[in-house]
Amino acid sequence: MTDLNGELLQIALDAAQRAGALLRDGRPRDLDVAATKSSPIDVVTEMDLAAEKLITGFIAELRPDDGLLGEEGASVEGSSGVRWIIDPLDGTVNYLYGLPCWAVSIAAQRDGQTVVGVVEAPMRRETYQAVLGGGARVNGEPARCRPAPAFEQALIGTGFGYLTERRAAQAEVVRALLPRVRDIRRGGSAAIDLCDVGCGRLDGYYERGLNPWDYAAGDLFAREAGALTGGRPADPASPELTVAAPPGLFEPLQGLLDELGAWHD
Ligand code: IPD
Ligand code: CA
Ligand code: CA
Ligand code: CA
Repeated sequence: MTDLNGELLQIALDAAQRAGALLRDGRPRDLDVAATKSSPIDVVTEMDLAAEKLITGFIAELRPDDGLLGEEGASVEGSSGVRWIIDPLDGTVNYLYGLPCWAVSIAAQRDGQTVVGVVEAPMRRETYQAVLGGGARVNGEPARCRPAPAFEQALIGTGFGYLTERRAAQAEVVRALLPRVRDIRRGGSAAIDLCDVGCGRLDGYYERGLNPWDYAAGDLFAREAGALTGGRPADPASPELTVAAPPGLFEPLQGLLDELGAWHD
């Protein structure tokens, strides 16, 4: 690990741990929706905003020349070549309802490449961390994805974006996929879904329309744990579809999603 990657990892771990503690210990009993964003079901709470403020303030103090991109509006160009991609609370709807599947997701990029990813899941008491070329760890222990099962034995995670006009098409994909696999899970946090692939708790995962803050850290974790990640076969870098699975399952899953037109309305 380079000295800089080590420094970035430590900052990401410290920032995610602080924000995770704020979210876990500071959740108001009467927490409510503060505002809606892209659609009436795309909600934000005061705690999403407080966590992003904590993380960006912490990072800016230590590395004032770095760029920042946060879901709740942080946007700083920076001049150092390092840029932080932050989802201060991934799984807001779970958090709002008091369900435990939510996380803080922080990735660091150098010249556009993700080199560090940290996903902190306080209610699971788990920290997922990955460094490019340095492996993936959960609570300090090496993480590895499962070997590919037969397709019909695969447990597949997915999620549904907040654009309500896309939901019927997403339901059609689930309808076609469900009879062909072991089962489908919808956990409610894309960052945790990707880490679950890396930990062998899901065989595979796909979702349409994620943003960089949803997947940057979890994607690196899944890859460093041995999974393949990517998008549409014709356009792997397209943000339209995110797929993660071990070699041997990735290809047929991506192929089936392609056949089903999983990114079409
Ligand atoms: C959402 C979660 C969810 C996924 C949505 C994301 P948020 O992020 O990751 O699992 O299905 O596409 O937008 O809004 O809770 O940070
Ligand atoms: Ca959100
Ligand atoms: Ca998110
Ligand atoms: Ca979020």
